[in-house]
Amino acid sequence: MMQTLAVAEVAQDGSRKDAELGVVADKTVALKVLIVEDNSFDQELILRELRRAGFDVNAALAQTPEAFAIQIRGTCPDIVLADYNLGPWRGMETVEILRREKLDVPVILVSGALGEVEAVECIKQGATDYVLKDSLARLPIAIRRALHEKQIEHERQRAQQDLARKAVELARSNQDLEQFAYVASHDLQEPLRMVAAYTQLLAEQYRAQLDEKAQRYIHYAVDGALRMQTLIQDLLTFSRCGRADMDAEVSDCNLILQRALDRLCAAIEESHAQVTHDVLPTLPVNRSQLEHVFQNLISNAIKFRGKEPPAVHISAHPEADEWKFFVRDNGIGIAPENTGMIFAVFKRLHTRSEYPGNGIGLSICKKIIEQHGGRIWVESQSEGKPSVGATFGFTLPTTRQRNGASS
Ligand SMILES: Nc1ncnc2c1ncn2[C@@H]1O[C@H](COP(=O)(O)OP(=O)(O)O)[C@@H](O)[C@H]1O
Ligand SMILES: [Mg+2]
Repeated sequence: MMQTLAVAEVAQDGSRKDAELGVVADKTVALKVLIVEDNSFDQELILRELRRAGFDVNAALAQTPEAFAIQIRGTCPDIVLADYNLGPWRGMETVEILRREKLDVPVILVSGALGEVEAVECIKQGATDYVLKDSLARLPIAIRRALHEKQIEHERQRAQQDLARKAVELARSNQDLEQFAYVASHDLQEPLRMVAAYTQLLAEQYRAQLDEKAQRYIHYAVDGALRMQTLIQDLLTFSRCGRADMDAEVSDCNLILQRALDRLCAAIEESHAQVTHDVLPTLPVNRSQLEHVFQNLISNAIKFRGKEPPAVHISAHPEADEWKFFVRDNGIGIAPENTGMIFAVFKRLHTRSEYPGNGIGLSICKKIIEQHGGRIWVESQSEGKPSVGATFGFTLPTTRQRNGASS
């Protein structure tokens, strides 16, 4: 197409005013048309109709399949107008030839007589439209519509290709980033171990020769190195939980929760926490990863407790194609303005002297849940009142996901 076509006008009720599409052309539109017609009188009628409707027509003719194939290989037309019945061959063969040549050109059948049933069959087989010779005035409308639809289809395909390409790029850059985080945190561990070990050795073996100030400095250095070690280990855990494809097995979430509680038994005893739960479902999950989620959420519920001993309840509710889990506590709560940020890596709302931690637990939970094809969020009830607690919610799909853990 050499020039953009006048776009279909849409009436207020949403329907297209086809009459205006065809007859009222706001400017001359260049149109390369290949006419497949054995009757020269009909050829002339078609051309006259197109010119009358404002097309600047550049027409070529073909009367045999061979001539048709040669024509379309030469200059690809915008549109093919083919007679349905051409004596020794049929206009529908043009559709097959175009398909074979991998050319996306609309074919409109122009026929003396074509029954409804035949017309529907032709459209099913790939013709774009049909026009009867005794209503040729409809031909420009049909052409404009066909070209407009082709343009829309073309744009849709391009958008789809763009989207697919971006998804591949994103997956690759995510993979690179995860690989980088993994290698960096893995390789940083060794030199850091050296720093921590030798500063500790220095402190132990030269204690007598060092004054109080030097000892304090060494203490800071050891403390810093140990802290960085935990940070790096946490980062490693974070990057690992996105690396390899996770196995997912249909698992009893009650047993997974129980294992998380077993690991937390010291913290539960020490804080006199009450942990209760509903009967949980059986779902396709990665067991150790879901255990990690329960462990992180419950340990937070205990750590960020208020004045009362912690009371934690884990509930689960079935929805259409997923289960919703909630971990509710009676702790210090989270101000509503902070609920969005706490799932980011290293994001914390308190200093380490108030509450210990690195701020990575929730980002790991988010990664795990999203890999399972679910979502995670927090509902805060603090609203200015102290110690009303926080409720963390997450979903897990009931069926295996294509890209996540359950693939
Ligand atoms: N149950 C909770 N009650 C109140 N605040 C919470 C709770 N869980 C998480 N938070 C807030 O979210 C932050 C991030 O949590 P997390 O990623 O687990 O890191 P960490 O536990 O190391 O601080 C915490 O520092 C805390 O401010
Ligand atoms: Mg935590």
